[in-house]
Amino acid sequence: MTRMTTTTATVTRTTATRTMTDAGPVRPKGAGDAVRALTRAGGVVGALGLGTLVYSNRVELNRFTLRQVRITVPHLPAELRVLHISDIHYVRGQHRKLRWLQQLAELQPDLVINTGDNLSDARAVPEVLEALGPLLRFPGCFVPGSNDYYAPRFKNPLMYLKGPSTLHPSAESLPTEELFGGFEAAGWANLSNAHSATRLNGLKVEFSGVDDPHLDLDEFSGWPSTDAQPEPPADLKIGVAHAPVVRVLETFADSGADAVFAGHTHGGQVCLPAFDGSGGRALVTNCDLPAKYAKGLHTRRRADGGSTGVHVSAGIGTSAKAPVRLFCPPEASLVTISPTSE
Ligand SMILES: [Fe+2]
Repeated sequence: MTRMTTTTATVTRTTATRTMTDAGPVRPKGAGDAVRALTRAGGVVGALGLGTLVYSNRVELNRFTLRQVRITVPHLPAELRVLHISDIHYVRGQHRKLRWLQQLAELQPDLVINTGDNLSDARAVPEVLEALGPLLRFPGCFVPGSNDYYAPRFKNPLMYLKGPSTLHPSAESLPTEELFGGFEAAGWANLSNAHSATRLNGLKVEFSGVDDPHLDLDEFSGWPSTDAQPEPPADLKIGVAHAPVVRVLETFADSGADAVFAGHTHGGQVCLPAFDGSGGRALVTNCDLPAKYAKGLHTRRRADGGSTGVHVSAGIGTSAKAPVRLFCPPEASLVTISPTSE
């Protein structure tokens, strides 16, 4: 018994000795190790950040997509296919964007609605009109955004996440009349604080639009059918604004709009990943609209018990001074307004 106990003790000692030898001499971790670890971690974070920045600038900005949406309206006699474009923010030389805009004409829409922010470059009007040339052959209407009046100024892209932007007092003016003159010459209706009516695809359609609510320029002008000398009732009422500020959406809805089109939010522009097919989760809208409505369709209850479909475009561009998008590709939308199935 005495011998066995001795052997066991020997094995234990041997094991302990071998462990010390394999591990090498143990020394306490000092400031140098901590600095090296932090440097390695910083390098990984920096590489990821740089990679994300390059992706959001070089890849996501050119990942042009078409969103397809349906809005249903009770008792509508026929369908209307609306191509919704917004926030082009064109800069000279954006040829990929130009060609994609031209190809949208292959969709053969019944109507084009442009919800503003066409420019990020004071000398880009000829290229914008060239890009939109094929679409200007279709019936259309438009409203101004702040980036049809004033050129962008440099800002940190992450400032977009901080809150609604404000107009800088020394912002450079853009050639608004040249741009809108081109639209109007092609027959598109300027709905800046104005209303109009037309017949499309057999439907009598009324429009009411406002100047940019983000600049507090909006003045609701009513509908053709509510004028002093009203026209016969419309089959469809469409409201149009650049910024989907809540007071404007409520005004349109409570005055009987069946559908409202807006842009401005850029879909949140820098979003978190989402795995529900929505493409990304917005954190901000650059106005008082809740972030969950930053892009796509949502519905608002009307005072008369009906509902208004509100379509917010994530837009086609970004400010030239903040050229990044993340989990939020540029988009146009084909919105089919159709009768509610009985
Ligand atoms: Fe915009």
